[in-house]
Amino acid sequence: MAIERTLSIVKPDAVGKNVIGKIYDRFESAGLKVVAAKMKHLSRAEAEGFYAVHKARPFFNDLVSFMISGPVMIQTLEGEGAILKNRELMGATDPKQADKGTIRADFADSIDANAVHGSDSAENAAIEIAYFFASSEVYGR
Ligand code: TYD
Repeated sequence: MAIERTLSIVKPDAVGKNVIGKIYDRFESAGLKVVAAKMKHLSRAEAEGFYAVHKARPFFNDLVSFMISGPVMIQTLEGEGAILKNRELMGATDPKQADKGTIRADFADSIDANAVHGSDSAENAAIEIAYFFASSEVYGR
């Protein structure tokens, strides 16, 4: 399988619960490497830009407000099949539907405060990584 990169965000709920390290352990134990990372309190404009694809959805304003409610931890993950692997580690969007042992099943409270973001395609991974990191800030192979 090809080595890929994906964009991951530990959302404000999980940062507030002090589980950044526990979530990083899931990535590393699954063979994903953190090759870029920054903690940031997003501005409203940054969060709106990041979630622009969801602009027309009824939950957009609540999603943006949640994403700026506290700092987030943003990282680029690298590894074999990183995009799908990260999505599998995360579990379903709604933690009630997420498989046992996934990040969302273990750390998320609700569909809107669901602990993590992960890119859902190679195309979006490239766009999302570039949204937060200059290529000189990514320390991959
Ligand atoms: P989506 O891209 O569908 O999910 P995922 O994060 O699993 O890729 O939605 C983006 C985020 O929008 C999701 O993580 C939480 C929020 N959201 C809601 O608040 N309510 C909803 O009904 C949906 C579908 C998403």
